[in-house]
Amino acid sequence: MNKKKLIAGNWKMNGSLAANQALLKGILSGLKDPACAIAVCVPAPYLAQCQALLATSPVELGAQDVSQHELGAYTGEVSVAMLKDFGVRYAIVGHSERRQYHGETDAVVAAKAQRALANGITPIVCVGETLAEREAGKTEEVVKRQLAAVIHLNGHCISEVVVAYEPVWAIGTGKTATPEQAQEVHAVLRAQLKAATAQADRIQLLYGGSMNAANAAQLLAQPDIDGGLIGGASLKSADFLTIISAAA
Ligand code: PGA
Repeated sequence: MNKKKLIAGNWKMNGSLAANQALLKGILSGLKDPACAIAVCVPAPYLAQCQALLATSPVELGAQDVSQHELGAYTGEVSVAMLKDFGVRYAIVGHSERRQYHGETDAVVAAKAQRALANGITPIVCVGETLAEREAGKTEEVVKRQLAAVIHLNGHCISEVVVAYEPVWAIGTGKTATPEQAQEVHAVLRAQLKAATAQADRIQLLYGGSMNAANAAQLLAQPDIDGGLIGGASLKSADFLTIISAAA
């Protein structure tokens, strides 16, 4: 199946006007005819800045979250219409840090994915097990439950969604899943997608969790790994560029 890989940076709560400018300048000056799709998911206050800096580049803009609500009395939330105003193409939804620190349930994640899709933004839906769940042999059960929550969204096909498998124990820890461990879970997710849609092979299934310049090529060579969601290594232009070139 010939589909483009997607390399998406997740800056998390990092950056400043000066740092963002330097980082994007470094990335854009090093990009040579990338073979993959590229996005950076930036903190909401910097959307306008990054939109302007990326305007004539192949790098697309992403958000790190989106409200499940359309508009109104939801203090602190950012609506999908606001994201659209800044040319946002992707929104990360259900990142484990949102699930863990902000109490996001599978139902909330599904509502957010639905809201994004209904407004033409592609949700990058994150799934992944904790260390305790892995050690209890529950990895498959957990990721299947998380994916099931978004597999039948009203009026939308799961093929419009990007899915990111991010084992919680590998995020920001320097402990990457081995390519075999990651592929094993990706194969489970792909089979679940195949049971739901004839378009399953088109769906980009990303791996995330300490993906870096040294391990990206091996991870991205796995048959069901169609890209990466990259935190720490997306904050260093040289590392991000190396990962992009590994995604040919
Ligand atoms: P990491 O984060 O690459 O720093 O582990 C990945 C993520 O949380 O999306």
